[in-house]
Amino acid sequence: MALKILLNGKLVGEKDAKISVFDHGLLYGDGVFEGIRAYSGKVFKLKEHIDRLYDSARYIMLKIPVSKRKMSEDILKTLRANSLKDAYIRVVVTRGVGDLGLDPIKCPQATYFVIADRIALYPREFYEKGLKICTVSTRRNLPEALNPRVKSLNYLNNILAKIEGNIRGVPEALMLNNSGFVAECTGDNVFIVKNGEIRTPPASVGVLEGITQATVIELAKKFRIKVRREIFTRYCLFTADECFLSGTAAEIVPVIEVDNRKIADGRPGSITKKLMLEFRKVVKRSGTSIY
Ligand SMILES: Cc1ncc(COP(=O)(O)O)c(C=O)c1O
Repeated sequence: MALKILLNGKLVGEKDAKISVFDHGLLYGDGVFEGIRAYSGKVFKLKEHIDRLYDSARYIMLKIPVSKRKMSEDILKTLRANSLKDAYIRVVVTRGVGDLGLDPIKCPQATYFVIADRIALYPREFYEKGLKICTVSTRRNLPEALNPRVKSLNYLNNILAKIEGNIRGVPEALMLNNSGFVAECTGDNVFIVKNGEIRTPPASVGVLEGITQATVIELAKKFRIKVRREIFTRYCLFTADECFLSGTAAEIVPVIEVDNRKIADGRPGSITKKLMLEFRKVVKRSGTSIY
């Protein structure tokens, strides 16, 4: 069934949801976005996603043409228009139409759109057996160049890493920062567990501040598991008791092998499994009601 897309505040059919070839989102990757999930009729962490979207826009001096409240309503409206309860939502704001030069001053009006679609879930096997990942040679963007905290339309850094992962035949690729510290995967944050404590890199390493990552930290605290936001190298990864990734699309997914080395016994760890179970409960009982 054709989807209804919200484009610049109006619902249109999928075929009519078109933007100009002069839009700088397309010409230069000049824009920001969010990926959000809805579970059982509720949007998970809507406020957090909206706040991050507006912060990303502020960083690139992009004025989003509607208020946060209107954007939240537009997201709910798009879900309702498509009768969705469980969904993946993509919100995109571009610099808008300009000329062929890159100057954003020449783009008077930002373009925004919301797509809400059925969620394509990752294979069950990923969650039951865990993932094999590898470290790639593409380094995560320098925060001084394009800060990875910005969820910008410029994902080529991550895509180059993904291509390396594809060549090596693994579903996720791990990037280091320019100093060789563990940063994040192409679309997920990374966690390790050692001696009952959790570690995940801080934003200063140069990573996206994940909303799922923050949720994992909340859940861990509830279980009285210590979480340290500290930089670490691959030494800690290779010698970890457990490893897992977090992200809106992936949720929490165990990692059982890095660079052909097994993590501990090569099976999803007990703390990872506990957090996965709790996460699934939390997403169903909290969030902003769609209907
Ligand atoms: C590069 C990157 N890191 C981490 C994440 C996980 O962030 P979140 O949990 O907010 O989806 C994402 C996904 O949005 C991402 O693209």
